[in-house]
This record gives sequence, structure tokens and C-alpha cells, in this order.
Amino acid sequence: MPLRSTEWFGRDDEVALLHRAALRTAQPAWRPGQPIIGIADSSSDLNGCNLPVRELLPAVSEGIRNAGGSPLVFPVMSLGEDLMKPTAMLYRNLVAIELEESVRAYPLDALVITAGCDKTVAAGLIAAATVPVPVLFMLSGSRPAAEFRARPLATGTDLWRALDERRTGAMSDADWRRLEDCLACTRGTCNSMGTAATLALVAECLGVLLPGTAGAEACSDVSAAAAYATGQRIVGMVREAQVPARSITQAAVDNALRVVASVGGSTNAVIHLAAVAGRLGLDFDLTGSADRILRSVPLTVDVEPAGSALAQDVARHGGLPAIAAGLGGVFDGEVVAADGRPWADVTAQAPALAGPVRGLGRPVKPAPTMAVVRGSLAPHGALVKVSAASPDLLTHSGPAFVIDGYAQMRALTDDPDLDLPADVVLVIRGCGPVGAGMPEWGMAPVPLCLARRGVSDVLRVTDGRMSGTSYGTVVLHVAPEAAVGGPLGLVRDGDRISLDVPRGLLDLDVAGPELARRRARWTEPPAPDIRGWPAMHRQHVLQAPQGCDLDFLTAPTAQHRRFVAPIIGRS
Ligand code: FES
Repeated sequence: MPLRSTEWFGRDDEVALLHRAALRTAQPAWRPGQPIIGIADSSSDLNGCNLPVRELLPAVSEGIRNAGGSPLVFPVMSLGEDLMKPTAMLYRNLVAIELEESVRAYPLDALVITAGCDKTVAAGLIAAATVPVPVLFMLSGSRPAAEFRARPLATGTDLWRALDERRTGAMSDADWRRLEDCLACTRGTCNSMGTAATLALVAECLGVLLPGTAGAEACSDVSAAAAYATGQRIVGMVREAQVPARSITQAAVDNALRVVASVGGSTNAVIHLAAVAGRLGLDFDLTGSADRILRSVPLTVDVEPAGSALAQDVARHGGLPAIAAGLGGVFDGEVVAADGRPWADVTAQAPALAGPVRGLGRPVKPAPTMAVVRGSLAPHGALVKVSAASPDLLTHSGPAFVIDGYAQMRALTDDPDLDLPADVVLVIRGCGPVGAGMPEWGMAPVPLCLARRGVSDVLRVTDGRMSGTSYGTVVLHVAPEAAVGGPLGLVRDGDRISLDVPRGLLDLDVAGPELARRRARWTEPPAPDIRGWPAMHRQHVLQAPQGCDLDFLTAPTAQHRRFVAPIIGRS
């Protein structure tokens, strides 16, 4: 197959001459016919999760050169969960666009996407589903665990636990400060099965990350070897024309959902998978097929926050090849892995099940680990991470206490004088994709008045998200969201809300005529004072069941789906 870059470099005219000269300023050794491999560099001082990528870039480039390709590194906006506000999710689609347009506009024959922190992987997966060139990920790796109170620190998850203790006065000032030092002392992605670790497994399932590399510890020899192998393999993928559309199939997406469920993974992965599937026109029916798949798989991997090990422990015990082997026939072995082998061949060589990787024969918890609910409060569905919830709250009915937005959440949940019953249902709204860019405000702290009485979990219902490292009984991604007129916006303090996860129901127990009266009086929240990208995002973003993609980029708008090459002429 002719190289795409030949369009830029192959002719004998002034345009191609200028192109060749421009390329040689960065790659003096480039020869005609060598595939040009773009390496999207997401390392940034603003994003400690992706910093290890910097040290891996030379290994990727070397692998590419040794396999006969020509590496070109270019920067890409880095989406760091910790420092980026209001939420990195607001910028996921922007980076997906940036990657797509970088491929479209430049003479790239393939793309290595360096990523790590959640949304850098999510944006890359969405871009991969869109571009017509081979794509491989090279990930920064799981953050080495610091020691905190004599046990390895699970980043994210242990911060939430510490916060629970801190709020009730159970954690000393010294421990609180030491926690900060521990969190700052290593680099890489969250090492519990948060969104980053979950999406790494998803990337493997979709054939855009080398098998067995998800979860490798950052700054390790394993991670460096994976970087070199990635460089080598991407050149082979150019020769084989192994583009993502060939590996991101319906079966691959379904495998990814099974793996998300089997590790008690991040609920965010479901949103990102919906967006990926949407780009390719694959089936992703949240309340139908996706729910059935999610509900069918038990927790087969004992990893935080649903279990006890860390992501790198899972990697050391075989990673996805072992997890997939443990799922047996449930995992479709005909799907193609990034190294070109069918997954059946990969799993055949996986190490025996050991440590945190248990398999279907000895699950950690029964199915479901994640489930979709729907009903009068969420007509288009919502998601519950069952594996990290309190079993007694999965079937629950209680009075609503409504919280509008982040400022109210901080003020009300920390108000010691608030008087709430233990069966309260917190409704945290105004956090959806249109309302706020869909931040991770969903895991609101248990109100202080209850925490001080020993209540450790309450049912929360939100149109926002929560971190993959979070836990608790939280119904997330309620659709439609309050800001676009969803029923969540009609809830008032004291209304009864009923959740029945086994039956897949989430209902607002308010009589129809009363709801109709409230709906007639409902008015759209005033538009925020925003411009630029946030304003564009608000205008075009879809709801969670559609992956929060932009309406003009997802598959049903077919005219936008086709990847149109640019005119190769004078600029
Ligand atoms: Fe970046 Fe968790 S905050 S991976």
C-alpha cells in the first residue's frame, strides 16, 4: 500500500521539494519511502501523570528508526486531572480533534499517542477511532506506590479515605501533611483501578496498545521495553495497514466492557467507550446491550478500589492477557490484539492465574460489578459501580436532599448543623456535560452531620461523574441531565427517590400531575458567561449515553464521519 506521506514528498515539483527540505530540518536522515511516524507528546509539567512519557520518547523513536521508520515528535495538549479546571473532561473532545487534525494536516503514515492521565487516553482512543492511519499508544505507566501508614498508597482512592477520616477528626495533622508528601513523591498515573488504569486495559482490548503492557509501573525497565517495542510495532502496522477501524470492532468494544466489569473499573470508561463506538457507528445501547454485558461479568480481579491490589500488581501477574484468560470463552478470542495476533493466541501464552488475577472460577465478588438503571428519574439511563457500593443501599428508598452545583455541595456537606436522616438521598445536579462540562463532583462527601454519627455511605444521585478511584453508592451520569430539562432538575427536598439495582430501576416517586406542574414552571438555567471552547462545547456536547461526544463528530452525522484528506499543494 502506498504511503500516505508520498502525497507530500513523492513528486518532482517545487511543492514536494519544499516539503522534503522542511522534513529534513527535523529528520536529516529521512529517505524517500520511509514511513513517517508521528509521536504525539503529551508530557507536560502541568500533568505529573504524563511526565514519565518524556523519558520514554527516545526509546519509542529508537524502536521506530530500527524498524525502518522515521519518528517525528509533536506536542499535544496535556489533560491532567489534578490541575485542570473545571475538569479535564471539558477538553477531551478538543484533544481528540487536535489529534485528528494533526493527522489530517500533516504527512503522517501512523501515530503513536503518548498518554497516561485519564482524558489523554480517552481523547486518544476517540481520535484513533476516527483517523485512517495505524495508531498505537505508549503509556506513562502506573505511579510507583509510596508507603503511607505502613501500606502502599493507592493514589486517588486513599485520598478519599483520608478525607473521610480528616472530616471527622480521625486523621492527625501530621498524617494529613505526610499524605501530601507521599502523593508528590512519585510520577505516573493513579495506581488503583481508576480511569487511567481502566482505559489502559480498554486500549489493549481495542488493539491500540501492545498486549500485556497496561498497568506497567512508570519509570521501570518494563515500561522502557514497552516503549521500544511500540516504536518497532507501529512501523509493522504501517506495512500491514493495521488501522484502528480493523481492530476496534463490535466484538472488541464488547470485550472492553467485559474487562471493565471484571476489574471493577471506572464508570468513566463506559462514557469513553460510547464515544469510541459512536465514531465508528458501532452499537452502544447503554440501557440495552451495554447493560447486559456489564451485568454478566463478576469481579475477577482483586484490585483497588473494589479490591485490594494495585494496577502494577495486576500487570506483574500477567495484566490483560491473564485477565482475558481468566474470563475464558466470555472474552472473544478472535479479536485482533495490537501485535497482530488474535487474542486467543495471546491468552494461550498468558501466565497462570495468580495473585490479584483470579478468573471466573474464583471471583472476588459476584456479578454485577457495574449496572445501568433507568426510570422516571433517568429516562435515558444512569450507571452504578456496584463493586464499590454498599450492598444495603443498592435497593433503597429515601427522601431527597438537593444540591445544586459544586459551591453548594462544599457548603452543605460540611455544614455541621444540617439535620439529615441517615436514609437521605443526595441529589447532586448541574454537573452534566452541558451544565458544567461533566466534572467528577458526583462522589459528594457524606454530609458531616451524618459522618459524625458514624454513617459511612449514603445514596447519591448525580448527572455528573466520579473519579474511577472513588467508591460509595453513587448513581452517576443521569441522563438527560438537569441543565437540559432532565427530571433530575425537577426534584425537590423531601421527594422520595427509589433505587433498585437488581431490577435496573431509578425512580422519582412524585405523582404525574405534580411533576407536570413542576415541568411547566421549569426554566433553563441562565447561560454561563463563557466564550471560546467552553461555549462551543456547551452548544454541541451530547449526553452521557452518547459518550459526551460532539454532535457534529459522531457517526450518525455521516457527512462528518468521512476522513477527508487535505489538498496537497502550496500552503
Ligand atoms: Fe492522572 Fe489519576 S489523576 S491518572
